[in-house]
Amino acid sequence: MRVSIIGSGYVGTTIAACFAEVGHEVVNIDVDSEIVSAINSGEAPIHEPGLAELIDRHGGDRLTATTEYDAVRDTAITFLALPTPAREDGSIDTSIIEGATETLGETLAAKDGDHVVTTKSTVIPTTTSETLAPILESASGKPVGEEIHVAMNPEFLREGTAVSDFQNPDKIVFGTETDAAKHALAAVFEPLIETTDTAVVNTGIEEAEMIKYANNAFLASKVSLINDIGNICKEYGVDAYEVAEAIGLDDRIGARFLRSGLGWGGSCFPKDVAAIKSAAREKSYEPLMLDAATAVNDRQPQRLLGLLHKHIDVANKRVAVLGLSFKPGTDDIRNSRAIPVIEGLQQRDADIVAFDPVATDNMRDEFPEISYADSPAAAVADASAALVVTEWPAIAELDSEFDTMATPVVIDGRRAIDRRDGIVYEGLTW
Ligand code: UGA
Repeated sequence: MRVSIIGSGYVGTTIAACFAEVGHEVVNIDVDSEIVSAINSGEAPIHEPGLAELIDRHGGDRLTATTEYDAVRDTAITFLALPTPAREDGSIDTSIIEGATETLGETLAAKDGDHVVTTKSTVIPTTTSETLAPILESASGKPVGEEIHVAMNPEFLREGTAVSDFQNPDKIVFGTETDAAKHALAAVFEPLIETTDTAVVNTGIEEAEMIKYANNAFLASKVSLINDIGNICKEYGVDAYEVAEAIGLDDRIGARFLRSGLGWGGSCFPKDVAAIKSAAREKSYEPLMLDAATAVNDRQPQRLLGLLHKHIDVANKRVAVLGLSFKPGTDDIRNSRAIPVIEGLQQRDADIVAFDPVATDNMRDEFPEISYADSPAAAVADASAALVVTEWPAIAELDSEFDTMATPVVIDGRRAIDRRDGIVYEGLTW
């Protein structure tokens, strides 16, 4: 099948390469000519495990990239995988996806036959039908639902495991209103549906848009709930990880996303929770649970700093910040919990030395004034305290290195380090 994808960001590039791998002829359209030539020469424009191999295999062959929209006319279906950045008030800015939809509509004016336009980007319910569909209609001169069809297919890939998430999905959601759209989506995903036991959810377009927000809001709230419970555990000297393991055995609760600690960051949970809260308020609904999930999340870094200050006055003392990315396996520092931790230490005039295996350059752009160590051992040497922010293996393996600290105070925000004699150890929720 011939498939086009507009946008070569994290989602667009990953799904383009994965669709090529399952046998489709894929064209990826992006305004950035450097990304386009990278893909055509078989090089991955982003770092994601397994992606380089796929682009090396298919780039310039079954997977091509271009800056020209004309290529979409030779395809049956187009996925819109464009950013929907957050505005100051938390709502999403759809101007990029709207602009691309207009160009797509103009291009489709000259196409004969059916074409399905599928929203892949995370958008508030009604965006596809009430914002994008009218743009397509007026730009193409064709009514939506006849030759041009719209659909919504939300994405559940995680950074760091996106390729394997694509290949082994828990579910695939098709939001459609016409048979043509439903059949086109089923055909694109047929190789995956045939080879895996993934659930296929056929639903409406607005439901599909909401499923994406509900998925992320639920997971973020689950982490905040276990953090709330974990904070209570800490007050009573109870181990929140033992509690989580036991409650996770109840299949109504489930064992995953019960790791309490510093909370959630990244480009998705914070942005999506803020966007759906803002959308709720547009309709005069107060999203109390989601407000609480955000409040708990904002408080966790402050609690970590509170534990530190119980043990030591950090003014003019060397403090190691271990881990800067929002989770292990990525160099992404967007909304990383390391940011409020560093800010809190700066307010108390600590002499900060940070370590991360891959995210140092990104954090240096944010905080050029702090020091960066080349190894976790170098970060903790002579430090008066160490704060574990991201559970990278290189950080979790630290042990005798703590003996080189000026005072061995270790505050662990991720349950990465083993409590042992010789260090003053505080877990955030245990
Ligand atoms: C998340 C979702 O998991 C994906 O399904 C979704 O497609 C993606 O957002 C998106 O909307 O694009 P991602 O942001 O890559 O994926 O990261 P996660 O692995 O979900 O972790 C999010 C945050 O929660 C991290 O900061 C992590 O440290 C934290 N977390 C996760 C916990 O604090 N405890 C847990 O038990 C699990």
